[in-house]
Amino acid sequence: MMRRLMWLSQLFYFLLLLFSQYISSSSTSSSSFSSALLCSQHQSSALLQFKQLFSFSKEASSVCEEAGYRSYPKMKSWKADTDCCSWDGVRCDSTKGDVIGLDLSCSWLYGTVPSKSSLFHLPHLQHLNLACNYFNHSPISSGFGQFVRLKYLNLSYSMFSGQVPSELPNLSELATLDLSGYGNVSLETSVVKRLVQNLTKLRELHLDHVNMSSVSLSSLMNLSSTLTSLTLDSCFLRGRLLDHIFRLPNLQELSLAHNPELTWFFPTVNSSNALRVLDVSYTNYSGELPKSIGKLTFLSHLIMSGCNFSEPIPTWLGNLTQLTILNLSANNFGGQMPSSLSNLKELSSLDLRANNLNGTLPMWLGNLTRLTKILLGTNSFTGQLPSSLSNIKDLTFVGLRYNNFEGRIPDFLTNLTKLTSVFLSFNQLTSQFGEFQFSNSLEVLALDNNRLNGSIPKSISNLTNLNNLDLSANDLTSIVDLDMFKNLKKLKTVYFSHNLLHGKLPVVPSSVNSFLMERNRFSGEIPYTACNATFLTILDISRNNLRGTIPSCLGNISNFLSVMNLQGNHFHGTIPDTFAKGNRLRTLALADNYLEGLLPKSLVNCINLELLNLGKNMINDSFPYWLEALPKLQVLILRSNKFYGPIRNHKTGGMFFPKLRIFDLSHNDFIGSLPTQFFEQFKAIMTTNESEDGPKYIGEEYSNFGFSGTNLTENYILQVYRDSIIITMKGNEFALSSILTIFTIIDLSSNMFYGKIPETLGTLKFLRVLNLSHNSLTSHIPSSLANLTALESLDLSSNMLTGEIPMKLTSLTFLAVLNLSQNLLTGPIPQEKQFGTFQNTSYDGNPGLCGFPLSMKCSSDESPPPRPSIVQEDNGSMFARGFGWKAVLIGYGCGLVFGLAVGYVAFKTEKPHWLVRFVEGERNGKTRRPNNKRLGRRRT
Ligand SMILES: *[C@@H]1O[C@H](CO)[C@@H](O)[C@H](O)[C@H]1NC(C)=O
Ligand SMILES: *[C@@H]1O[C@H](CO)[C@@H](O)[C@H](O)[C@H]1NC(C)=O
Ligand SMILES: *[C@@H]1O[C@H](CO)[C@@H](O)[C@H](O)[C@H]1NC(C)=O
Ligand SMILES: *[C@@H]1O[C@H](CO)[C@@H](O)[C@H](O)[C@H]1NC(C)=O
Ligand SMILES: *[C@@H]1O[C@H](CO)[C@@H](O)[C@H](O)[C@H]1NC(C)=O
Ligand SMILES: *[C@@H]1O[C@H](CO)[C@@H](O)[C@H](O)[C@H]1NC(C)=O
Repeated sequence: MMRRLMWLSQLFYFLLLLFSQYISSSSTSSSSFSSALLCSQHQSSALLQFKQLFSFSKEASSVCEEAGYRSYPKMKSWKADTDCCSWDGVRCDSTKGDVIGLDLSCSWLYGTVPSKSSLFHLPHLQHLNLACNYFNHSPISSGFGQFVRLKYLNLSYSMFSGQVPSELPNLSELATLDLSGYGNVSLETSVVKRLVQNLTKLRELHLDHVNMSSVSLSSLMNLSSTLTSLTLDSCFLRGRLLDHIFRLPNLQELSLAHNPELTWFFPTVNSSNALRVLDVSYTNYSGELPKSIGKLTFLSHLIMSGCNFSEPIPTWLGNLTQLTILNLSANNFGGQMPSSLSNLKELSSLDLRANNLNGTLPMWLGNLTRLTKILLGTNSFTGQLPSSLSNIKDLTFVGLRYNNFEGRIPDFLTNLTKLTSVFLSFNQLTSQFGEFQFSNSLEVLALDNNRLNGSIPKSISNLTNLNNLDLSANDLTSIVDLDMFKNLKKLKTVYFSHNLLHGKLPVVPSSVNSFLMERNRFSGEIPYTACNATFLTILDISRNNLRGTIPSCLGNISNFLSVMNLQGNHFHGTIPDTFAKGNRLRTLALADNYLEGLLPKSLVNCINLELLNLGKNMINDSFPYWLEALPKLQVLILRSNKFYGPIRNHKTGGMFFPKLRIFDLSHNDFIGSLPTQFFEQFKAIMTTNESEDGPKYIGEEYSNFGFSGTNLTENYILQVYRDSIIITMKGNEFALSSILTIFTIIDLSSNMFYGKIPETLGTLKFLRVLNLSHNSLTSHIPSSLANLTALESLDLSSNMLTGEIPMKLTSLTFLAVLNLSQNLLTGPIPQEKQFGTFQNTSYDGNPGLCGFPLSMKCSSDESPPPRPSIVQEDNGSMFARGFGWKAVLIGYGCGLVFGLAVGYVAFKTEKPHWLVRFVEGERNGKTRRPNNKRLGRRRT
């Protein structure tokens, strides 16, 4: 994301240039063609022939649209028998009629430019711009080297690939060269050397995302002193950058961002140094911020994120009085903000996110009246927000989340009329704010994860520009005004989850795509207005007191609906049989209600379904074989219903729950022998191991803003919806708030299965939890279970199993929970490895068992000494990295799996870029509000 934004900001810069070029070129051409018909026949036909190379497709220039710029097929208007000098994008010399300029940027070109192309028959070209088209991974033709008069060449973001041709250095007149792209073009040292040698008039050189990993940095030694702008972002540069680059006499812009193997040292410079823009983000530098930067008196942009700078922010930064943009985010700066920063009167954007800054926000911040963006999130600031912020009239964006700010909702939210985005999430703001008047300009208001209480402010219903509203995880108690969203026609996301709101659910606005109200006390029925929300993507109204039946529209409300979570309410009646073909439902969670009747057959239309949770209802049906072809189904939970009958082996025509990892049929009335064949076919459980880059969660990231590159907000609001389920272990229920894709569970407990435990279970190599308890299984424990080397919990209790415990089971080195109690097992208990750690309770009620930990000694046994517990090394387990089962059992009363899941999240939050939300624990149905709301801290 960061890269993409960085890149986009580059693109913006470039498009700006492009736009100004365009303006100037079109004004020139219109003045020139007013005189006479100028264009020669051969130029005309060369251009028309060139046009033949392409088809025109908007996608080819989608990058322009994404960045908010217009694109259109300029060439489409080119017609034979008209003056080519008047064609869109063509510019001619006003006296001779030579084509000297061609600007086909953002022109939908889709095709390739071969070296024999007629384009190269335009020898007078001085200006050529083909940026932002799609040349289909073709190489940059050597033909470009023929335009010896060329002063401007722009081939950026156009899907060229391969080596930059060795003919390019022939363009010795070039003032601007832009080959930036998507990382498919590469440059060799020899070509760089010749470029540097021959392009002595170069003023702007942009090679962002050109692969220069093999380029020796010494080849940049003699870069032309005419250079004013040099950007080498994401070029895979390696080694130490030569100091002299920072001293190029005319250089105003230098960008080296995202070259993690590039080291540099800022040399001493004198105050006449021309640098205005310096971006060295995410390069390899650590230590103090180099002092000599303080000599750059013209500097307006200083961007140094992700460089491992530590220490306090140096006071001398206050010398850079021309700064408009200061970005020191994602470093390790500590201490307080130095007051010298109050000299930076020109500052428009201050970004110090993700450091270790502390203290209160100083009053003088309000003296920086040019500020439009304040980004101080993910630090350790404390205290109240200074009232002086309301002096900063142009403020549009305030990002202060993940700090320890306290006190009332700040006043600046009232009287700053340009304010659009406010992120105060994850602080300690208190106060009743029911009467608060919010500034009408707000588009994004995120006050979630604070301690706000009382009612939801009425003035929110006046914020007609509001897109996103997040008040979740506070202590709000009121009844919500049913019509509060009536005038908010742009509202896309509404999150009121985890509060104490009651009364009826508010009317669902038809523009909304995410509507999250879970864990409140809403009562009444699902409002029929939900059926009008045709953009609805996530609907989560779980864990409330809602009643009534599920409206039949819900199955086909929206073509976008991906998550429907209604669990933990009092819904009754049948599940509507209205799931339409082509729906995108990924999660359907209806557990813990009073639903009855048959499973709706239209569920087979939900081919995107990953999670189907119908547990704890009264559904009365036989086993739904017909779900076996759902290609993405990972979680199937039918527990605690009235499912009945045998589960027969049957021949399948291919697909058989190909992705299923969690299979819970417990607490039903299934009968007969265990379905041997099933266990041989659960492909996902046989192959699911932790992936290279760590575990993944079932769930998705949703960007609520679509793609809007200019907007920092995109970086901010990236919502993760994580499914949660309840699993049983050792007789207790645990909520699993985030389902790791490596969780693999088979739970067939509390049914009426009889007969043998099939040997075939042994093929499920990556099974973690197996529960067959409370059935009527007989015969021996198959020794093939020893093949389940990932197994962490095994429960075979309350059956009629006989024989000895297979010694081979000692090879289950991750086994942390074992229950074999209430069977008819006999003989000695294995003593090796994990088996030394289990208690009596694991074996109770088997009169024929003997040996430690039971008091009954085995007859042949000379009273073996009790073994010391061997606490396993946990490093292969899904709960690894510091949070093993033992640690959790001892240290965290809040429940096994909860602790484990949280542990995992806590250890993982450094890495992911998404927000880890809703880390929530629950045990035996009793909700608890975790005090570690703040786990997702290191988000920038
Ligand atoms: C420099 O450019 C000229 C033509 O402009 C060309 O003849 C010459 O070979 C180039 N030199 C190098 C070192 O590329
Ligand atoms: C900052 O300015 C002060 C006063 O003009 C000067 O004494 C100091 O040397 C400057 N610091 C740096 C690092 O340039
Ligand atoms: C603020 O940060 C500095 C530097 O990291 C540290 O020495 C100081 O103890 C911190 N102060 C507080 C109140 O945490
Ligand atoms: C901020 O502005 C106020 C009023 O103009 C002034 O009194 C104060 O000295 C300024 N503070 C700083 C640190 O510049
Ligand atoms: C905003 O309101 C505060 C008081 O609430 C006031 O002191 C300040 O002058 C106002 N600022 C502007 C720009 O209106
Ligand atoms: C909405 O705005 C109008 C006009 O500014 C104002 O009169 C009214 O009190 C506001 N409503 C609420 C609930 O704040």
